Amino acid sequence: MTRFRALVTGCAGFIGSHLSERLLSDGWQVVGVDALTDYYSRRIKRRNLRSLLSHRRFAFHRADLNRMDLDRVLRSIDIVFHQAAQPGVRASWGTTFHIYTDCNLLATQRLLEAVRGRRSILKFVFASSSSVYGNVRQLPMRETQRCEPYSPYGVTKLGAENLCQLYHANYGVPAVSLRYFTVYGPRQRPDMAFHKFIAAALEGKPIRIYGTGRQSRDFTFVSDIVSANVAAAIGGQCGGIYNLGGGTRVILRDALRILERQLGRPIRLVFEEHARGDVDRTGADTSRARRDLLFRPKTNLAEGLAAQIAWHRQMRAEGVL
Ligand SMILES: NC(=O)c1ccc[n+]([C@@H]2O[C@H](COP(=O)([O-])OP(=O)(O)OC[C@H]3O[C@@H](n4cnc5c(N)ncnc54)[C@H](O)[C@@H]3O)[C@@H](O)[C@H]2O)c1
Repeated sequence: MTRFRALVTGCAGFIGSHLSERLLSDGWQVVGVDALTDYYSRRIKRRNLRSLLSHRRFAFHRADLNRMDLDRVLRSIDIVFHQAAQPGVRASWGTTFHIYTDCNLLATQRLLEAVRGRRSILKFVFASSSSVYGNVRQLPMRETQRCEPYSPYGVTKLGAENLCQLYHANYGVPAVSLRYFTVYGPRQRPDMAFHKFIAAALEGKPIRIYGTGRQSRDFTFVSDIVSANVAAAIGGQCGGIYNLGGGTRVILRDALRILERQLGRPIRLVFEEHARGDVDRTGADTSRARRDLLFRPKTNLAEGLAAQIAWHRQMRAEGVL
């Protein structure tokens, strides 16, 4: 099997750190870039990086994509996995929106500019999001349907995805966009629902639910997302867009019952006002990814949550969480 040289942006984050580890274990060389932004605790990001930093085929640049010398870093690269972004729907309103335009739009445009004309780059895999769809009436969500993002974050992810498409159409940049549906598992970001639920439950605190708790999500385990990234680097169609959903669409309240069973203790719920920008439900049509990427999610919600709980326990024992 060919061993490629990859650039992983956002390598200290939740998904980027798992992806970097997987590439190294497959024998790839990995250059990781991350600014260690302060969206959530840098202690967690440093912990995510720990095993990567000791690997001889991994090189780390702590740098901002909007300022660093991209030409230098791209010189030795075959495949780009662009995971870096300012995530989060709720924080994307108001005065912090400029961080979203900086990290999601401007940084992606700058990277695409640096990649265009470099024939050595075989694939540019972009981490897009189900948030590009918005509040749809009918499920499943299909790549061909009209996108109407429901949050400022979703607007920036759709804008970045559109940039990938047009750099492909105009300059032949071999871009592939992967629309992730609610990713979970060890290292999940602290602003995401399962992370908050497990953290609260382990501390014996009530869990805060926005809205009725009847909202549903197509939860996707992180290693299934990572495998799809690797498959997209090899077999993804340039200019293609692929939904990546775990295939277990679950109502939040039902997910909480699974958590309750696994934690072996009752969970108290507190209901809060519906969060603006949050959609009611998501569900992916993954037939394209099944066809081109042989995408077959392997981890069900119970297994995935068990792995995430184990990670929380370990991080609490280490004093990271
Ligand atoms: N987690 C999910 O459920 C989910 C769902 C849909 C899409 N996504 C997308 O997947 C990608 C990874 O998400 P995540 O959950 O791992 O987020 P994360 O915040 O854990 O990781 C993103 C990383 O990017 C870095 N970063 C941000 N701006 C940067 C910049 N300008 N220069 C260099 N580094 C920068 C951050 O420091 C962070 O470590 C993002 O593009 C996100 O939009 C995630």
